[in-house]
Amino acid sequence: MEGLAIRPEGTYVDVTFGGGGHSRAILSALGPEGRLFAFDQDEDAAAVAAEFFPLRGNPEIQENEAGSMDYTEGGRFTFINENFRYLKSFLRLHGVRQVDGILADLGVSSHQFDEGERGFSTRFDGPLDLRMDRRGEVTAADLVNSLDENDLARLLKLYGELPNAKQMARAIVKCRQDAGGPIKTTTDLKEAVKHHLPRGKENKYLAMLFQALRIEVNGELEALKALLQQASEVLVPGGRLVVISYHSLEDRLVKNFMKSGNFEGEIEKDFFGNVLSPLRMVSHGAVQASEAELAANNRARSARLRVGERIKN
Ligand SMILES: C[S@@+](CC[C@H](N)C(=O)[O-])C[C@H]1O[C@@H](n2cnc3c(N)ncnc32)[C@H](O)[C@@H]1O
Repeated sequence: MEGLAIRPEGTYVDVTFGGGGHSRAILSALGPEGRLFAFDQDEDAAAVAAEFFPLRGNPEIQENEAGSMDYTEGGRFTFINENFRYLKSFLRLHGVRQVDGILADLGVSSHQFDEGERGFSTRFDGPLDLRMDRRGEVTAADLVNSLDENDLARLLKLYGELPNAKQMARAIVKCRQDAGGPIKTTTDLKEAVKHHLPRGKENKYLAMLFQALRIEVNGELEALKALLQQASEVLVPGGRLVVISYHSLEDRLVKNFMKSGNFEGEIEKDFFGNVLSPLRMVSHGAVQASEAELAANNRARSARLRVGERIKN
């Protein structure tokens, strides 16, 4: 909230509505003239938004031109059940070309994590799904049953940063051949790789495996790149971009982009030595949760928050 530096009459976007915690805080900091647009691609979040923001009576629910449901509360709050990679288009659809602040709290929500049916957690037996948007066509089961060993190993290395990606990929392919049928559930997958989880690090390795599949299923890094690019275009000069990421692949993209305006982090300067980047980093390094916050919410342990500001030309 501090990073967003909210102006009560400003227009803000929470691109990861989830359970609505951040949206609620932003709305309470906005005055009657302020506006909040929230995105989430998960229809469960849409259901929360619908009941969370009844228009002191009933929410107006409108189907927009793109066919997605928007919930509009008294003109101050609009929920858009879409991927934030289309931030600019959907804002334009609502007649908004510039905003004062954007917040992204990336990754999976506690709700998604705690619903065994969604396949996000290694703790439950459930279908190997991992789609945040269930309108998407490819599930994690599709990936583990269709990719060949090399492609699977590449995916596990790149997105899971698994030291033994090759062995894991081989075990998965062997399992689907030997078992004579597809790997369908989280338990099937855990069973397939059980001999490749180092003692004492079983949960860590499983989390890395699930992370790799999740990133691919949801196209997470592509969506983040599109968001960062478009955020820098729609923010007013002086407007804030606040991003909380949960793994190094995301955080690296955020850091590089806020510093340099590109994903490689290569700083380019003009003739006068000014850095050519649409944003400047406001936070010093990555802000992490305090001991006290971790004691209350252990899921914040991997969170890294960065704040960027649109350069005033
Ligand atoms: C960590 S949770 C956000 C929790 C939220 N800040 C709150 O206060 O409850 C992340 C949410 O972002 C959504 N999400 C992740 N990537 C998305 C994307 N590319 N487009 C839209 N929503 C996305 C997920 O569906 C999930 O509900």
